[in-house]
Amino acid sequence: MPTLRPMTHTPTTPGALHGQVAFITGAGSGLGAAFARRLARDGATIVINDLSPNAAAEVAAEVGGETAIFDVCDSVAFDAEIDKAVARHGRIDILVNNAGIAPPTDTDRVQQAIANQMARMEGRIDDLVPPNSTVELSDEDWDRMIKVHLYGTFYGTRAALRHMTPARSGAVVNVSSVLGLRPMAGAMHYATAKAGIIALTKSVGQEVAPYGIRVNAVCPGWIDTPLLGAMDPMMMAGIVMQIPKGRMGRPDELAELVRFLCGPESSYCNGDVFAASGGFA
Ligand SMILES: NC(=O)c1ccc[n+]([C@@H]2O[C@H](COP(=O)([O-])OP(=O)(O)OC[C@H]3O[C@@H](n4cnc5c(N)ncnc54)[C@H](O)[C@@H]3O)[C@@H](O)[C@H]2O)c1
Repeated sequence: MPTLRPMTHTPTTPGALHGQVAFITGAGSGLGAAFARRLARDGATIVINDLSPNAAAEVAAEVGGETAIFDVCDSVAFDAEIDKAVARHGRIDILVNNAGIAPPTDTDRVQQAIANQMARMEGRIDDLVPPNSTVELSDEDWDRMIKVHLYGTFYGTRAALRHMTPARSGAVVNVSSVLGLRPMAGAMHYATAKAGIIALTKSVGQEVAPYGIRVNAVCPGWIDTPLLGAMDPMMMAGIVMQIPKGRMGRPDELAELVRFLCGPESSYCNGDVFAASGGFA
């Protein structure tokens, strides 16, 4: 039996990421930008990936980091940019697979969902109108949703592990969603992609656990970022009513969890999945 040593760190040690290099996808906005600020605060050098050069440059300037502009669905670009970061700094310690998109809001469908809810409450089940969200989902929308989230997470994880495995060290954090744990009707492709990220995390986490690498996932609940900006306010109000905490989350609240999973404090987290949802999950 190996000796169990007591923990030498308490969550989370200031400055514990000094000298480390963190690559964060989709970090030009919302959660990714909050993760960049939080990891930089504890000393990490940050590489900010995004599709938007301006957004990435703004966050990079704020945290004293660098940018890597590419689409996470492009595996050749992902490999090249991770390799470039390693060539520049001699290492990659942290990868946060965060880039993501949300299904566009369809106002007609939202109105119909509200009408259906009223009919349900009044017991008029025969009046319900099928939303046909799945029937009308195009091949293109399905492909893009699965590619950005699931392919992007796979490409990034693979590219980082090529360097982390020989180094016998590293932390990968994958951003899933409460909808990956608790899918909702109407966003089947999003929920499917996020559930896939959970399976990927558990499988790879088990594979690399003995080699000093930790792969974990976070499942944010409803967080106040530009991603949800386009959602119908009525629908959003209905969702907030279902959050036991009574409000949406803030990006900095998720950033604490991600910081924990990136650092030495989470040394026994391997292939594990953490929700931060105000009780929604
Ligand atoms: N906001 C929430 O309530 C919430 C809840 C659960 C999970 N999430 C997940 O958190 C992650 C971040 O979301 P957010 O709320 O910060 O959204 P956001 O829209 O504020 O930021 C997402 C960023 O990802 C970038 N991006 C999108 N597609 C990309 C691609 N193919 N390649 C590179 N960059 C790309 C965007 O340009 C944007 O800057 C996403 O994976 C999202 O699914 C968000």
